[in-house]
Amino acid sequence: MSIHNTTILALGSYFKGAAFLQECKALGCTVYLLTKEKYKDSDWPRESIDEMFWMPETHAQPDLTYAVSYMMRTRKIDRIVPLDDYDVEVAANLREHLRIPGMGETTVRHFRDKLAMRVQARDEGVNVPDFSPVLNYDDLREFMGRVPAPWVLKPRSEAASFGIKKLNSPDELWEKLNELGDRQSYFVLEQFIPGDVFHVDSVIWEDKVLFSIASGYAKPPLTVVSGGGVFRSRNLVYDSLDAVALRAFNQQVMKALRMKRGVTHAEYIKDADGKLYFLETAARVGGANLAEMIEAASGLNLWREWARVEVANARKQEYELPPIKQSYAGITVCLARQEWPDMSAYDDPEIVWKLVKEHHAGLIVQSDHSVRVRELLDGYGERFAQDFMAFMPQLDKPTD
Ligand SMILES: Nc1ncnc2c1ncn2[C@@H]1O[C@H](COP(=O)(O)OP(=O)(O)O)[C@@H](O)[C@H]1O
Ligand SMILES: [Mg+2]
Repeated sequence: MSIHNTTILALGSYFKGAAFLQECKALGCTVYLLTKEKYKDSDWPRESIDEMFWMPETHAQPDLTYAVSYMMRTRKIDRIVPLDDYDVEVAANLREHLRIPGMGETTVRHFRDKLAMRVQARDEGVNVPDFSPVLNYDDLREFMGRVPAPWVLKPRSEAASFGIKKLNSPDELWEKLNELGDRQSYFVLEQFIPGDVFHVDSVIWEDKVLFSIASGYAKPPLTVVSGGGVFRSRNLVYDSLDAVALRAFNQQVMKALRMKRGVTHAEYIKDADGKLYFLETAARVGGANLAEMIEAASGLNLWREWARVEVANARKQEYELPPIKQSYAGITVCLARQEWPDMSAYDDPEIVWKLVKEHHAGLIVQSDHSVRVRELLDGYGERFAQDFMAFMPQLDKPTD
């Protein structure tokens, strides 16, 4: 049987996802990459890319539709895959226009728009923080009367805690809405739930979560971004109550949001009473090098599996998970004062990966013992704070 020459178009408005492109090529696909001009000289795995295209902006419409339709005059495209969160929406938009299978615009809303995820999850019986759209002022007044402060006002479609504001009184909200003017409807207001923040990363095939792994952030991401600090996460003990509950909850969330296939990164809050809330999710590989951490723990590379899922679907084949190991890993990352921080003093044998990125320090540790991972991360938390940590308020639009 000859294998149909599957053609994949990857949208990469940010430089990431090399393992995805490499796996597509290894599976015999024709691989096209459309990126921003700014990233045309980045270290893409060129041997795995048949043709590369770039545009000054990859999200402006109708330019993007014109560009991809033009490409299609002489090339067939079987699947479109977004590498970055901001590409997830435009990928759906293109699929709808070009009639290419995959997640369409209705479902993509559940993964990109924090108001849509709230509404859909709540309507399907998933526990979410109480919330209100920023549309009708009577509804906002009613919400603030019913739900005790603090609240968070957050952009419906941003990532990396960008633009999230904690509010303590109605006056603060009205003032902020005044400032936002016509942009206010692009925000959602919700109850602030103090607690621990977790993430579950999964591989989904034909409506089933085939693989999922539960991990916990040492501090909530908002605390790290707004207060400065060291970002840390590690996967939970596999049969712990938290891990089991989170993975079951994640399954409920993916079903509620109508996720059919691909990879997801989802976040959850556990309050003081141990109750779980669905915080947010994305239809892509999690950022902040969590994919590397998950690979160190499980042996499964989410980028590679995503490629295998898409290609299997395009070829009408079955997808099967690779062998999975049940080990433990943790990551620690912070902004560094030094341009290229020297991490050579960090030499524990459990270190399996070091981050090489300007003004960043970071590493991943791996061990068969969860307690060892925790012990190492706790130690590095303090050492990183002394050796490297810099705090820069987040000004630019995030890309990851
Ligand atoms: N309702 C909430 N209650 C408590 N903390 C929240 C809430 N919403 C957001 N946060 C904090 O803000 C962070 C970012 O919010 P999130 O909804 O995950 O958006 P982003 O896409 O920017 O990651 C979370 O990790 C958490 O620390
Ligand atoms: Mg988040």
